[in-house]
Amino acid sequence: MSFFERWLVNSPFRARLQRGEVDAFIRWARPTAGDAVLDMGCGPGTGSALIWERLRPRLVAAFDFDPAMVALAERRLRRSGIDANVRLLVADATHMPFADSSFDAAFESGVLHHVPDWQAALREMGRVLKGGGRFWFAEPSKGRLTRGLYRFLPHAVESTFDVEEWRAALSEAGLQVEEPLRRLPLWDICGVATKRA
Ligand SMILES: C[S@@+](CC[C@H](N)C(=O)[O-])C[C@H]1O[C@@H](n2cnc3c(N)ncnc32)[C@H](O)[C@@H]1O
Repeated sequence: MSFFERWLVNSPFRARLQRGEVDAFIRWARPTAGDAVLDMGCGPGTGSALIWERLRPRLVAAFDFDPAMVALAERRLRRSGIDANVRLLVADATHMPFADSSFDAAFESGVLHHVPDWQAALREMGRVLKGGGRFWFAEPSKGRLTRGLYRFLPHAVESTFDVEEWRAALSEAGLQVEEPLRRLPLWDICGVATKRA
């Protein structure tokens, strides 16, 4: 990520938008307090903290590829006094360090358009979710990345996708999309996919 994008991800502007995203996760994916929830590519941990605060699930596990982001998330959770409630780790979305069928629900916001082998990350998501588990996602399409604020944020072409490529990769990963897909302010590919039993 560029310096500007890192700054944006850590800004109050992003934290405000994430509140709406976590609300949408709770409304659309309907996680329950008994669930084990995964936050993939958690960045500075804003979403992980909100998931804990809003839902109090049995477990929140959160990971990011970038140790500096995980350090920021650690500080953020400690400041809020909830560091014992979120299991944080440095890990790669394409090789998740979790056993098969570990999670009931997963949340990811703006991560996979940074991952060149995003299809492998979706396969990993299909592996770590339980049958019937819900995957909530929010991503920008190839087209969206050429407009507005995104024009100032460089992205590698190989990690971008359009909505049909996204649908096809979810299906190959054993994840059934709940139609219709939706939109949020930053993202035009949003929704829930359920792991086939
Ligand atoms: C745009 S930020 C989004 C962060 C957070 N989800 C949010 O919504 O604010 C993208 C994040 O994906 C992380 N990331 C990129 N490639 C990754 C990978 N292969 N595995 C895990 N995280 C990755 C980056 O380090 C960064 O924190």
